Amino acid sequence: MNRLRVGLLGCGNVGAGLVALLDEQRAVVAVRTGIELEIARIAVRSTAKDRGLSIDPAVFCTDAADIVSDPEIDIVVEVIGGIEPARSLLRDAIAAGKPVVTANKELLANHGAELFAAADDAGVDLLFEAAVAGAIPLIRPLRESLAAEPVQRIMGIVNGTTNYILTQMSERGANYAEALSEAQSLGYAERDPTADVEGFDAGAKAAILATVAFGAVVVAGDVYHEGISRITLDDIEMARRLGYAVKAVAVAERTAGGNGEGPEVAVRVHPAMVPVQHPLASVRDSFNAVFIQGGAVGELMFYGRGAGGRPTAGAVLGDLVDAAVNLTSGGPGRIGRLVPARIRSIDDLRSEYYIGLEVADRPGVLASVADVFGRHGVSIRSMEQHGLGDDAQLVFITHECRERDLQATLRDLRGLEAVHEVGNVIRVIGHENPHQ
Ligand code: NDP
Ligand code: HSE
Repeated sequence: MNRLRVGLLGCGNVGAGLVALLDEQRAVVAVRTGIELEIARIAVRSTAKDRGLSIDPAVFCTDAADIVSDPEIDIVVEVIGGIEPARSLLRDAIAAGKPVVTANKELLANHGAELFAAADDAGVDLLFEAAVAGAIPLIRPLRESLAAEPVQRIMGIVNGTTNYILTQMSERGANYAEALSEAQSLGYAERDPTADVEGFDAGAKAAILATVAFGAVVVAGDVYHEGISRITLDDIEMARRLGYAVKAVAVAERTAGGNGEGPEVAVRVHPAMVPVQHPLASVRDSFNAVFIQGGAVGELMFYGRGAGGRPTAGAVLGDLVDAAVNLTSGGPGRIGRLVPARIRSIDDLRSEYYIGLEVADRPGVLASVADVFGRHGVSIRSMEQHGLGDDAQLVFITHECRERDLQATLRDLRGLEAVHEVGNVIRVIGHENPHQ
């Protein structure tokens, strides 16, 4: 029996979940792999906190760097989050020849290329299954099973907090702040939940997915993102009446402008109206779901818990076992050579849009509004009027059009005397292909 000593950096939602899960599964792991994993040291901010774990209090300390440099530690697991000190700690662990496992999407979406290269040079594992979509096996299928697949598009729900909030708002009319606070207490949200609700967390995950799927360097700053904080109960109700659910989606796709050096890709995160019959519309609470569209395999769908300490710990433990097996057999996995990516601007992308306008209810208004759409080449698929007099609202759904034309339309609509307000504009996932 090989015995490996694990240094755990961070013991919050995910770290504590890992300690408890490994306690339950240690014997099974040992039988299957011949390796006994021991969490030998744990770094936290406060050693005084009661974490409800049955582990020797002497393993806790506040000096993560000391754990990384400890020659008795074989594998490092980082679940602190954020850029620093996580980045330096992982770099030092890799430089010391230790395999590392992390759930840190923010770090990988900003400094992944540097860390992947360091791990490749050092010949050690850098595993990060838990960084995208929590418990769902997604990175390993992309890295291994789909390594030779010409992946065209990845689309899905990759943030559990926002999916939980939107579910609670649409199913029981919960207000936004109340639903966010529940998501925080359930351990779904990031330390600063702005990362979730403004789309940074999903953007980081989309960048990582694009990097792994397209073999090209895509960073958080390449991702266009809009959050859900401006979505109201009225938007959700209007979407329902029109046959849609409001979801926060992430899309990473290969576009037509690649060159010999690397692919052109478009990566974005935004709220979207999803037809109720679309599989994503029924993904509730903290669950995530991701479609991968390949050139040969066709459509694949991955579904499961996208957040929460214990589900995420499941993905971390899977990586830890993999790293342990690779360490004892001397064969680390590699991400492979990454090429530069060209990023297509959001202005050039096409979508259908939902637009709500508060207008004066009098003759000629609809004609003047329709004229603005027409001048910018934006074709209207459907239109409804709700309310009368001062409360009149016009609701449009467009055919697919270019983002820059839509933005020009909105600018001109705001300039019309009869338009009191341009409300939320939400992209619409089309009916034509149920997975797009
Ligand atoms: P928490 O905030 O619950 O836990 C963070 C832990 O790190 C705490 O134990 C904290 O110590 C410790 N810590 C913070 N700073 C330091 C430091 N400088 N040195 C040592 N320890 C430190 O975060 P989560 O467990 O929720 O998330 C951890 C990582 O996992 C993040 O990268 C997150 O994005 C990712 N992730 C989280 C998921 C989730 O559902 N929660 C899902 C998927 C990924 P103390 O307890 O003393 O404050
Ligand atoms: N805060 C993240 C979410 C955790 O809500 O999805 C999982 O990455």
